[in-house]
Amino acid sequence: MADGTPVLVKIAPDMSDEQIDGIVALALRLGLDGIIATNTTVSREGLAPSPAELERIGAGGLSGEPLRARSLEVLSRIRTVAPAPEFCVISVGGVSTADDVLDRLSAGATLVQGYTAFIYEGPLWARTINRGLVRLGWQSPSAARVRVTRGTESV
Ligand SMILES: Cc1cc2nc3c(=O)[nH]c(=O)nc-3n(C[C@H](O)[C@H](O)[C@H](O)COP(=O)(O)O)c2cc1C
Repeated sequence: MADGTPVLVKIAPDMSDEQIDGIVALALRLGLDGIIATNTTVSREGLAPSPAELERIGAGGLSGEPLRARSLEVLSRIRTVAPAPEFCVISVGGVSTADDVLDRLSAGATLVQGYTAFIYEGPLWARTINRGLVRLGWQSPSAARVRVTRGTESV
């Protein structure tokens, strides 16, 4: 952007792989700074409640655990064509443990974001993740440090 503000596009996990490929190609062609993958899902696949119960609960985006596998898959797919570290990919969706964070970093995430886990586990969640990363032998904890930022989103 002209004023130097990075521009990233956030994508849904419900898109087909081909749609994701198209968005990544367009983002690279337009010179965007990166992609945030992923938003919440409208899918109700694999959930424990009955279809009737899900119907009663109603529509809306689902976050947290049900997103974990697809969000990681989308990140990996993006990284097959989007160069690291030049092109930023913020990985979000179902991240709740240090193992999850390590999975995302290993798959090429530039930054890892947690939303639902932060809501449920509270402000000490970031510290738990950082300590977990150190325990797992993450070599560069300063580079991977979890921070809570101000604004509408917690990164
Ligand atoms: C209550 C709630 C509000 C959200 N608001 C926004 C929003 O304003 N803008 C946005 O891009 N994503 C929003 N999201 C999506 C999250 O940033 C995140 O992409 C998604 O919840 C998956 O991450 P999680 O599994 O860690 O929650 C919201 C999610 C929740 C649960």
